[in-house]
Amino acid sequence: MPVDTWFPLAVYYEDLADANNHKKQLIDASLQLEKEGYERRAFPEMAWTGDLHGAEQIHIDPRFSWIVGQVEVHVQQYLQTLGLDLNQIDLYIQRAWPVISRHQQEVGSHSHNTAHISAVYYVSVPNSGSDEAGSLVFFDDVRPNEVSPGLGSENTNIIASWNYLNQDQAMYLPTEGRLILFPAKQRHGVTMNHTEGLRISLSFDVVLTAKPGSAAGSYEFLPPPPQQWQKFGGI
Ligand SMILES: [Fe+2]
Repeated sequence: MPVDTWFPLAVYYEDLADANNHKKQLIDASLQLEKEGYERRAFPEMAWTGDLHGAEQIHIDPRFSWIVGQVEVHVQQYLQTLGLDLNQIDLYIQRAWPVISRHQQEVGSHSHNTAHISAVYYVSVPNSGSDEAGSLVFFDDVRPNEVSPGLGSENTNIIASWNYLNQDQAMYLPTEGRLILFPAKQRHGVTMNHTEGLRISLSFDVVLTAKPGSAAGSYEFLPPPPQQWQKFGGI
């Protein structure tokens, strides 16, 4: 009895060959930004995230130029894999920030609502390749096979066995040197760092815009070129 499965979520990842050569500089720069950032404004169990603490522009910081270049290369490969015509699109890194998770810290579930593609790069991970320092978890909010809403919730045990047809989340073990790309709207979170070490990652938000004068339909489905925008009061 065949069962077909449809509508996959496409998560792209690549282990960057040159990772070790850049590790120290990226750690040092991330910790420096943490030190210089706003006074901590998150709950103690939440990881330090640069976007909440005034450190959300590492994409224009020369200390991060290597990883910015890698994000640019791999986002284009990802979008080509998704079947997009890159000739009709301009790509921007909108914001980018370090995330530093210490012992018993995590990142709650969220989406990157102002971007189209999100990226995470693992700079430094204690017990890399295991879940001990905190895994990236994607949550499925569509639940196409949950035949009655809530059937898979933690308040029942009606689902007798979890398998790939009813799974409601997908987990990626944090792996040093790995770059992961995913649709920014996909809800996700990071599980707790149970190690005593620092788990340092970098997050990037990428926006697609239509190229000027490009094909019909692009301005309806992508933001028009930012250089055509007019800020209030400018005319
Ligand atoms: Fe995130």
